[in-house]
Amino acid sequence: MRAFVVVSHTGPLTGDFSLSDLPGGAGRIDVLCRCATEAFLLSHGIRKDVWLYLVIRDRLTIALEGSRLRHLNPDERSTAALLRRAITRAQGISPGEEAESTPGIYVRWEDLASLLGRLQGEGFEPVLLDEEGSFLRTAPLPRWPAFVLSDHRNFTPEERELLSAFPKITVGPLVLHGHQCITLVHNELDLREAGWVNGSSSPR
Ligand SMILES: C[S@@+](CC[C@H](N)C(=O)[O-])C[C@H]1O[C@@H](n2cnc3c(N)ncnc32)[C@H](O)[C@@H]1O
Repeated sequence: MRAFVVVSHTGPLTGDFSLSDLPGGAGRIDVLCRCATEAFLLSHGIRKDVWLYLVIRDRLTIALEGSRLRHLNPDERSTAALLRRAITRAQGISPGEEAESTPGIYVRWEDLASLLGRLQGEGFEPVLLDEEGSFLRTAPLPRWPAFVLSDHRNFTPEERELLSAFPKITVGPLVLHGHQCITLVHNELDLREAGWVNGSSSPR
């Protein structure tokens, strides 16, 4: 099982945004949409062994579960519509409650610290995606990693403090977009699972 936790500093907490203005009025929800696409979509299928958590403004967590997920398409607009439904659904629930807005998409009022604690209780081990970490290609990784990454902004000092206990991994020397990091992490895990490690095995 693999998980990704995307920390969104500007995403919307209410569903009253236009699907025609995702980078503006919707608080860069386009960043989250691209992360969802890269977390789940294969050319002709969906990754079922993945969870994606979108933590918006340290208040609202949207969870997407690959094994149940439906209606996720490659375009950002339809993904934003799914997220908008989740955010709208959240308005009717109390702290501690969870609701499924569409198949495989769940929402609850939960902050990053609480989510990380819950994931650890479920067997995931958080790993921080950080430009200054150990190199992904050679670093040991937990069996059930939960990769934590930020959106278009840096982590805040408070988030850095919260995340300081976890191992840091870098995907390479350049600062990439979050969704690009997700693709590279998936590729590395795919290679490891298929036994294509360190050139000791090759496709054909
Ligand atoms: C677009 S970056 C965030 C903004 C970036 N810190 C900056 O200076 O503009 C989004 C996230 O992707 C991850 N990231 C980007 N490049 C990375 C790299 N080379 N290795 C590991 N993680 C990376 C980090 O978690 C980062 O917070």
